[in-house]
Amino acid sequence: MADDSSPQTDAYRAEVSARIADAADLAALDEIERSILGRKGELVLRKKSIGELPPEQRKAAGQALGALKATLTEAVEQRRSALEAGQQGAQEAAERIDLTELRPAERLGHLHLVTQAMRDLEDTFVAMGFEVYGGPELDTDWYNFEALNIPSWHPARSNFDTLFVDVGETETTMLRPHTSNLQIHLMEERTPPIYAVMPGRTYRRDTADATHMPVFHQIEALVVDRHITFGDLAGTIDAFTKAFFGEDRTTRLRPSYFPFTEPSAEFDVSTPSGDWLELGGCGMVHPNVFRNVGIDPDEWSGFAFGFGIDRLAKERHGVEDLRELFTNDVRFLSQF
Ligand code: DAH
Repeated sequence: MADDSSPQTDAYRAEVSARIADAADLAALDEIERSILGRKGELVLRKKSIGELPPEQRKAAGQALGALKATLTEAVEQRRSALEAGQQGAQEAAERIDLTELRPAERLGHLHLVTQAMRDLEDTFVAMGFEVYGGPELDTDWYNFEALNIPSWHPARSNFDTLFVDVGETETTMLRPHTSNLQIHLMEERTPPIYAVMPGRTYRRDTADATHMPVFHQIEALVVDRHITFGDLAGTIDAFTKAFFGEDRTTRLRPSYFPFTEPSAEFDVSTPSGDWLELGGCGMVHPNVFRNVGIDPDEWSGFAFGFGIDRLAKERHGVEDLRELFTNDVRFLSQF
């Protein structure tokens, strides 16, 4: 041990430790390590010189050298970790991306046409006192059909070219073919009065063409309150049409059939060219639907309507082919 605490060894340890601590980078550290701890390094020379000591001193000298080696090895490792961390930090700093950076205004993007239409519709209905509600796209038989008064034997089921998902029993789980499932979720969750719109993505086994996409968007409206009449339904559709398309537009209802409404109608919006744009379906909520969600149809009445958003966005901007909206060609989308 004598040699370990000798002034000579202490001075050497201090000097080498300082060199290690001062190594400017990993290459410099490697160099120092090689010259001290390497196969032909200073410690090897020191070890050889132990053989020249008197035999009784060799053991202590060997132990001292071992301790010195451990200390210096440790110092090298510490310095290496510090340098590596610093290098990583420098690399991270160099690769940092400022996500808050604002691009010049002319290069800013904008919302997709369908999203714009959806947000505008939401705004229109919120201004009329409706809330916006959302729910699952993957849903069960109960929410998409059963509770909406479309039992499994009902021929109307085949009108929805439903995309079933292989979960549970056959044809019990599906990508919702309409947003009407949300009426059920909402009525199960809440008690009337209810004034809500429910926009969302919908799916059907359709081949994409100029007016169809297998993935599309609908918005559903539901009102449940006391003494709601068909007049309220017609008035609401007309009010929203004028707010959304413009005061000069009118609407008309044509008798139709939906299992979840009675009576039911389809509604059209007048166009500047004098034609009618067929928009969606509507009607008074069927008493069976109310019963299915535990709402008393003698106390409450309501109306619902639903329509596609994509075709509306398409018409609004004079786009010829619905598919154009979804190819995500920025040259096309940036025109709007
Ligand atoms: N869910 C119907 C469809 O996708 C549209 C619809 C019709 C919604 C009548 C309604 C309604 O809320 O009352 O074809």
